[in-house]
Amino acid sequence: MRPQLPFAPACERNKVPILAQLLNILPGTGALLEIGSGTGQHAVYMAPRFPHMTWQPTDLEAELEGLRARLEAEGCHQIQSPVPLDVAVGPWPEQLFEAAFSANTAHIMGWPEVCAMFGGIGGCLIAGGVFCLYGPFNRGGGFTAPSNAAFDADLRARDPRMGLRDVEQLARLAECHQMRLDEELAMPANNFLLVFVREAP
Ligand SMILES: C[S@@+](CC[C@H](N)C(=O)[O-])C[C@H]1O[C@@H](n2cnc3c(N)ncnc32)[C@H](O)[C@@H]1O
Repeated sequence: MRPQLPFAPACERNKVPILAQLLNILPGTGALLEIGSGTGQHAVYMAPRFPHMTWQPTDLEAELEGLRARLEAEGCHQIQSPVPLDVAVGPWPEQLFEAAFSANTAHIMGWPEVCAMFGGIGGCLIAGGVFCLYGPFNRGGGFTAPSNAAFDADLRARDPRMGLRDVEQLARLAECHQMRLDEELAMPANNFLLVFVREAP
C-alpha cells in the first residue's frame, strides 16, 4: 500500500492562485530555490508548469522524509533531490539561482530566522533574480483583516517567536541584502505575494 503522504489543505487552496502569479513573474529558465518546502505539494504542482526551470526543494532535516516521499510519488524530472536547509544554520547552496520561492514560512520562523532567510537568499540569487514570498503579512504596522489578527494571536500563543511580519519591515530587511520590494500582490484569503528583486552588486 502507498504510504500516506504529508498533506497541507492550505496548499491545495493557494497553489492555483500562486501559480497564476508565478507564471507572470518567474523567468522561465534557470534554477529556483524553494525554502521550507514542507509537504512538497507546491513543488510537484508548480515545477511541471516551468519545463525549462529546475526546482530545488529544501526544508529542515526533520521534514525531509515526508517531502522525499511526495517527490518520489509525484515529482517530475526538473525537481532536484531535496536538501536539508535550516536558514539560520545553512549551509546555503553554492550555486546561484534565478529565482527563490517560499510560502507560509515568514510567520512560522522567528525574526532572526527571517533575517537569515533574506541574507541567504540575497547571497544566492543572480542580479535581477526574484524572490517570491507568499503568506499573510501586516501593512503599516496593522493587520489587514480580523482573521489575520486571530491567526497572529494563535501563533504567538503557541510560540512567541512566531507571528505575522510587516511588509515595510521586510522591505527594509531586503534592502540590507541587495534586494528591493518590487511588487506586493494581493492574494485570496488576505494573503500577499511579495516579489523582491536582487539588485546588481
Ligand atoms: C507552515 S509550513 C509551510 C510549508 C509549505 N511551504 C507550505 O506552504 O505548505 C512552514 C515551513 O517552514 C519550515 N521552516 C521553519 N523554520 C525553518 C528554518 N529555520 N529553516 C528552514 N525552514 C524552516 C518548516 O519546516 C515548514 O516546512
